[in-house]
Amino acid sequence: MTTCTLPHFWALIPAAGVGSRMRADRPKQYLELAGQTILEHTLACFLDHPQLQGVVVSLAPDDPYWPTLVCAHDSRVVRAEGGRERADSVLNGLQRLGELGAQDGDWVLVHDAARPNLARSDLDLLLAELADDPVGGLLAVPARDTLKRTGPDGRVLETVDRALIWQAYTPQMFRLGLLRRALAQALAAEVAITDEASAIEWLGQAPRLIEGRADNLKVTRPEDLQGLARLWHTGR
Ligand code: CTP
Ligand code: MG
Repeated sequence: MTTCTLPHFWALIPAAGVGSRMRADRPKQYLELAGQTILEHTLACFLDHPQLQGVVVSLAPDDPYWPTLVCAHDSRVVRAEGGRERADSVLNGLQRLGELGAQDGDWVLVHDAARPNLARSDLDLLLAELADDPVGGLLAVPARDTLKRTGPDGRVLETVDRALIWQAYTPQMFRLGLLRRALAQALAAEVAITDEASAIEWLGQAPRLIEGRADNLKVTRPEDLQGLARLWHTGR
């Protein structure tokens, strides 16, 4: 029998976006899915995990929805100020983690507020696979469809070899000190940063991809929420 010791970790949930592509009456993390908001489902993926040290949620300063949630009063959940871009929200969250006593060598798992269907098995897989990794990494899913590269006229230039193409999901798991340095330097250099891994890559390091479940979906457009609602209705 192999014994597996999972590392301790902190969770950081950037939730300061407005959800413009969702075109709803409120930011998408506050839309309802199976009787609770998306953000509550997302937090629940982490809150009962025995290795969790605490959770920071980055929120818009004038967010009127957060105080109405039960989890806003949970002592394990701490609020940070969101920023202009996702990377700003994450960097503020890392600062808050430091104030809570997190050390530079601690693992931080950054997970989209709008990704409520993270399986415990995927979370544990990420922690187990990266426990001793010098860089860290992220959940990802291999591309399934045939991929095309287009020219400016919208016509196919070529078919891309999909064996080498992955979709980057979250959580993305890095050590606090390395991630803070990567994000701060990338933001200062005005490099386009769409996820934590891209900041680490920009520092010249190579995050590891851990193959996760394809149903760890991010709600981006209205049809994504309808799809998740169907998935939850039929039983996950
Ligand atoms: N996010 C954030 N701070 C920002 C922008 C985004 O904390 N300034 C968060 C979102 O709340 C979301 C996650 O980053 O949980 C992923 O971003 P995305 O899916 O792009 O969400 P939005 O930016 O809210 O949506 P859109 O791009 O459609 O406006
Ligand atoms: Mg966005």
